[in-house]
Amino acid sequence: MRIISTERSQVLAARVAERLGVSLVETKFTRFPDGELYLKCGELDDETLIVSSIVDNDMFMQTLLAIDAADHSRNTLVVPYLGYSRQDKRFSPGEPISARAVARALSTGIERIYVVNIHDPGVLSHFGVPAKNVTIAPAVGGYIGDLRLKNPLILAPDEGAIDFASDVAAVGGWDCDHLEKTRLSGEEVRIAPKTIDAAGRDAVIVDDIISTGGTLATAACMLREQGAASIHAACVHGVLTSGAYTRLRAAGVSSVVSSDTYENASSFISAASAIVTAIKEDAHR
Ligand code: R5P
Repeated sequence: MRIISTERSQVLAARVAERLGVSLVETKFTRFPDGELYLKCGELDDETLIVSSIVDNDMFMQTLLAIDAADHSRNTLVVPYLGYSRQDKRFSPGEPISARAVARALSTGIERIYVVNIHDPGVLSHFGVPAKNVTIAPAVGGYIGDLRLKNPLILAPDEGAIDFASDVAAVGGWDCDHLEKTRLSGEEVRIAPKTIDAAGRDAVIVDDIISTGGTLATAACMLREQGAASIHAACVHGVLTSGAYTRLRAAGVSSVVSSDTYENASSFISAASAIVTAIKEDAHR
C-alpha cells in the first residue's frame, strides 16, 4: 500500500503513513495557465490510501484527480474533513443537498471511505461505497487531560453536540453538560449550562466544528459573566474562518485547539491513530 495526500492534508497523511508503516507518494501540484488544477503522483502500488480533507473547492477537485490518477489500484479514501457536509438537508426548495452531491462524486473509483466526526452521520448513506465515521473524541479528551485543569467541566454548545461532549468527558471521568439558550426578551438571550453551575469551574467547550467562532464566543462571554474560572475551546475541525481565532481569544477563551483534519496553527490533536485503528479493524474482518 502507498499513500497519496492532497495539498491540505499533508501532515495528517504523513502521520497515518508512519503509523501504518507504508510510504507516502510524492505528488506534484500545479495549475494550468487557465487556473485548472494539475497533479502528478509518483509510483503507486496495487493498493492506495488517499488522504484528503475537502477544505475548499480546490481540494475537492484534487481529490477527484488523485482518485483518477490511482485508477489502476484498489483505493481507500480518507476524508478527514468533509466540506459541504453542513448542507445536509434541503432547507428550502431549490437548494441542493450539497453533502449528498459531494458524497456521490467521491464514490467513484474507490472501495471504501472513512470520514472523521462528520457533522451528521446520516450523510454516510449518500456514499455509494461502504463509509465509516471515525471519532477522535478520545484524542480530544487526552489533550484536555494534558491541560491539567482541576476538575474541568466539559460543555457541548448545544444538544446536537452532547454525544461528542460525553465521549470526551468519559476520558477523564469529568462532569459534562450542554449549554442551553433561554430567550429572556426580544433582544436578550441567556446561554448557560443546563444543569451544572459554571461558577469557579474550568470550562471546556467542545464541538465538532469551529467555523466563524460565533457559537463559542457567545457562549464564552456568558460563561465569563457566570463566573467560570477559565474557558477553553476544543474541536475536531478548526475551520477558523473570518477571524474566528481572534474572536475567541477576545471573548476570553484561554486556549483554542483543533485537530489535523483541518490543518492550521491550532491543530495540536491528531486524528491519525483513530483513522489507522479503523482501517486496521476493517482489514482484519
Ligand atoms: C453546528 O451545529 C456545528 O456543530 C457548530 O457548532 C457550528 O458549525 C459552529 O459554527 P460557528 O463557529 O460559525 O459558530
